Amino acid sequence: ILVSLLSLIMVSFLISIIDQYLNPTQPQIIPAYLLNSSRAIKSTSLTDFASTMSSPSPPLLIRGGTVVNDDEMFKADILIENGLIKAVGPNLETPSGVQIVDATGKLVIPGGIDPHTHMQLPFMGEVAVDDFEKGTQAAVAGGTTMIIDFVIPSKDSTPIKAYKQWREWADPKVCCDYGLSMAITTWNENVAKEMEIVTGDEYGINSFKFFLAYKGVFMVRDDEFYQGMIQCAKVGALARVHAENGSVIAEKAKELLAKGITGPEGHTQSRPEELEAEATNRACVLASQANCPLYVVHVMSKGAARAIAHHRQKGAVIFGEPIAAGLATDGSHYYNKDWLHAARYVLSPPLSRDSSTPSALMDLLAAGELHLTATDNCTFNCRQKLAGKDDFTKIPNGVNGVEDRMSVVWEKGVHSGKIDPMRFVAITSSVAAKIFNCYPRKGRIAVGSDADVVVWNPEASRTISKDTHHHAVDFNIFEGMEVHGVADVTISRGKIVWENGQLKTMTGSGRFVPLKPWSPTVFSTIAQRAKMIQPRGVQRETSQDLPKEVEKLTVQNKNYRTPGGNSNISFS
Ligand code: URP
Ligand code: ZN
Ligand code: ZN
Repeated sequence: ILVSLLSLIMVSFLISIIDQYLNPTQPQIIPAYLLNSSRAIKSTSLTDFASTMSSPSPPLLIRGGTVVNDDEMFKADILIENGLIKAVGPNLETPSGVQIVDATGKLVIPGGIDPHTHMQLPFMGEVAVDDFEKGTQAAVAGGTTMIIDFVIPSKDSTPIKAYKQWREWADPKVCCDYGLSMAITTWNENVAKEMEIVTGDEYGINSFKFFLAYKGVFMVRDDEFYQGMIQCAKVGALARVHAENGSVIAEKAKELLAKGITGPEGHTQSRPEELEAEATNRACVLASQANCPLYVVHVMSKGAARAIAHHRQKGAVIFGEPIAAGLATDGSHYYNKDWLHAARYVLSPPLSRDSSTPSALMDLLAAGELHLTATDNCTFNCRQKLAGKDDFTKIPNGVNGVEDRMSVVWEKGVHSGKIDPMRFVAITSSVAAKIFNCYPRKGRIAVGSDADVVVWNPEASRTISKDTHHHAVDFNIFEGMEVHGVADVTISRGKIVWENGQLKTMTGSGRFVPLKPWSPTVFSTIAQRAKMIQPRGVQRETSQDLPKEVEKLTVQNKNYRTPGGNSNISFS
């Protein structure tokens, strides 16, 4: 009887696995709005999330590794069941049916969180080639188990329409968990209202990005940016900014084209670093005026980093995010004789023309002046880049990074002796989880956290190449770079999705992670400051003598002559 019972269990287990493979595009949970678009989207709360997981995978026991969190390192085994971390401790018992993952001599870290990606983004007349499937496959191959992608409404769309579009694109394809941030590309009452709606549970947005670049496409004016940040502060969302001076860039681009500079070197010359530093400073000033926390995406230059440090020293709540590209490459590529080579490095803000910047940005991450790393993964292949063959302003902007970020940060940070493994975990996952309010569910190895775990081999090395990467793009900006630190095994919500150099992902098996507003890491001081900086009026007695006083002053003013004569400039 026991034997036939066991065979029955085995057979149904095998059928469920075969079924998953035969129906790879079937998402495990279909969002409510895809079933009935007139209904509000159903939120996936933490409890729903755990209980709805139909995991055909066996429990896992990661044995013999060193667990690394952002504040501790210790030797322990980890038991994973139903997508969650069930136990962490030394010499855990081996339950029956468990699959052992040997981590002897390796580190066991929270899966990376990349808080800035653009999978399949329609941009500059093209669509980024890493879609939500290829992009998340590349992510897990490099040890990243969650991305935060950007919903970017065109100026004539609305936040909610665009949100639905992004969910329709992502949900059936993602191979690891993902969250969404939203760009605000225009300003009106409806946008303000929808910002409030999408920060609700059923949408799960807790940050909004403003572009101070891409004039006429995504760029907002300072007054719109300021109003947008006031609204962010009101709804408990973090403001994020792409900081460049888009208006001056547009002028400089025209000047360069008129001088016959049409190649990718024009891209960098139209965007001097000062214009990134100026916009970063302006964004910080305006954020303080709006009493809104600010997150500066893709910090590419020392000047921008300096502006952030300056405002933080004055007490502003500002986070700075360098990206893998900026930590490992520089702007010398724009002057490469091969047009295509140069074009493939075009992103905005451009890579720094100062070759000491990548290492300086890592120093700032080590010192805590910059806070977390991302990639801005937004890939266009050779054919797409050629759209700008005769005019650098038409080269689609964007580069790869999601697969290589973890290794690049390990190489430039830990292997070079600048940071320890705990700081590595902080800047690759925990800080992002805290800022975007999904900690400790994400970004920590602890009982009850999602089992997004990576067995990280600090001794192994690999050479990055387009021939072996898992992106859809036909180029890799880190080509030929040797990096230490390799993801041996990646586990996404309890399932092995990368092992022995092989992807084991299932299309659409990743989940949308709704992100709640009012992140304590972001808002704790802001809420208190709002109370302290209430505008102050002055109560005055109305005096009987006031009209007489006014009359006297008016006569005096008429007779007043400034030394050197009165100005004839009038201020209406
Ligand atoms: O060049 C870039 N960065 N492309 C992606 C869009 C953006 O600015 O983030
Ligand atoms: Zn940007
Ligand atoms: Zn971006």
